[in-house]
Amino acid sequence: MAMKLLIINGPNINMLGVREPGIYGSRTYRDLVEFVSSACREAGVEAEFFQSNHEGAIVDAIQGALDRVDGIVINPAAYTHTSVAILDALKAVDLPAAEVHLSDVSSRESFRQLSYPGMACKKTFMGLGFEGYRQAVLFLKEYIERQGA
Ligand code: DQA
Repeated sequence: MAMKLLIINGPNINMLGVREPGIYGSRTYRDLVEFVSSACREAGVEAEFFQSNHEGAIVDAIQGALDRVDGIVINPAAYTHTSVAILDALKAVDLPAAEVHLSDVSSRESFRQLSYPGMACKKTFMGLGFEGYRQAVLFLKEYIERQGA
């Protein structure tokens, strides 16, 4: 059976292409789903996508991933900097997770310097745009394969 990853995107990621294109680029969320789908296809990994603007819905999606997927790629967007609930959900399911940010949060405002969900992630990819998701998929694939070996 193919490895399966859940790709979670948080608030305002559905507004890609419209929101602050100078920071996030001109491609849309649909473009992102297409990009990550083909990256997963090339890696031989199955992908399921979830986007929500609601913290609790993201917590539910993480809980629902238990026993169903092998790993989680997550861009918690603004909840990165506030959500202990998303951190706790990732810890609760204890699935290997990788954090992605389109922009280089390390060179942005001070309130973006802390990531709660990142504390439960094996690795963070930032400032690489869509490419960060592809690298996160490849990283998790290798990580999960190594664990199973
Ligand atoms: C983001 C960075 C966050 O600080 C911001 O709130 C977002 C997007 C990124 O992908 O660069 O919404 O996660």
